[in-house]
Amino acid sequence: MPSPRILLSVVLLAGAALISGCGRNSGDGGVSAGGPAAGPPRIKLGFLVKQPEEPWFQFEWKGAGVAADKDGFDLLKFGVQDGEKVMAAIDNLAVSGAQGFVICTPDVRLGPQIVNRARQKGLKVITVDDQFVAPDGKIMSDVVYLGMSASKIGYSVGQALHAEMQNRGWAAADTGACVVTFEELDTAHDRTQGAIKALTEAGFPTDHIFKAPQKTTDVAGSFDAATILLTQHPEMRHWLVCALNDTGVLGAVRATEGRGFGADDVIGIGINGTDCVDELRKPKPTGFFGSMLVSAPGEGNRTAEMLYQWVANGTVPPAETRTPGIFITRRNFEQVLKGEGILP
Ligand code: GLA
Repeated sequence: MPSPRILLSVVLLAGAALISGCGRNSGDGGVSAGGPAAGPPRIKLGFLVKQPEEPWFQFEWKGAGVAADKDGFDLLKFGVQDGEKVMAAIDNLAVSGAQGFVICTPDVRLGPQIVNRARQKGLKVITVDDQFVAPDGKIMSDVVYLGMSASKIGYSVGQALHAEMQNRGWAAADTGACVVTFEELDTAHDRTQGAIKALTEAGFPTDHIFKAPQKTTDVAGSFDAATILLTQHPEMRHWLVCALNDTGVLGAVRATEGRGFGADDVIGIGINGTDCVDELRKPKPTGFFGSMLVSAPGEGNRTAEMLYQWVANGTVPPAETRTPGIFITRRNFEQVLKGEGILP
């Protein structure tokens, strides 16, 4: 009969082997070389975004990375600028043994195809930012979604535009509102409609609210859209500017500059708060006045965490989660963005 001390040493040694076995397998997807007591394979999850060049999406990835480190899963990041890239990424994920992904799709109408492919491959799906749309034009509300409270945040943009216009003492008679729109995307529509609603409710003349549809959601797309609009309305001496996000407002502000308007005659307010840092840091103020900051790291973190809990523990996430916004300007952005972990 071995002594209790020897028994204890055997138990401790076995425990140590088990722990080191887990550690060794953790980095390689859990493929065991046949050693004893291999741990369960490490969970792999994907995070697919439509515009990887936008700081917004880079910060979502960053937040997802924090969840991966905390929970100990592998995060596989893909930039998916079109439908082909989305499908290739899903196939890639399946081959590498992933069990689910978070996606901001390049085209919301790809929703049914994405859901089908994910189902075939046994992958769970969470949508972030942009909700899938069914062929009948309805939102696919059965797919888990997390995104900003679009109408409310847009409404706050409209209110802030109006408040700053009052502050500057501009007359409505020669002030125009340039609303850069992207109607193909529901969240974009809701944001700009929210801004229009707030302006109208504040008494801003509806016939001074002009929509400038952008063909692409980059700076060039909104620059072109706004330039056309500004050319059509030479009678306006001041401009309020809003769009679906910071990028849209940046393009339109560049367009106002191109038409000879300076910072004193333009109030642009964006949405995201991540894509205007360089602009707000410029030593001389521009027409880009501020932004409604939504936490991109927070959204990335929460969706990745929800997906992990779903895959690892079967905890089904809520069908819909909405996130709020905070108003930032040149005055407070450094401090607020530091608090959000967006600036170091
Ligand atoms: C859309 C926009 C992004 C960002 C997200 C936030 O995807 O294209 O810039 O605003 O919404 O939800």
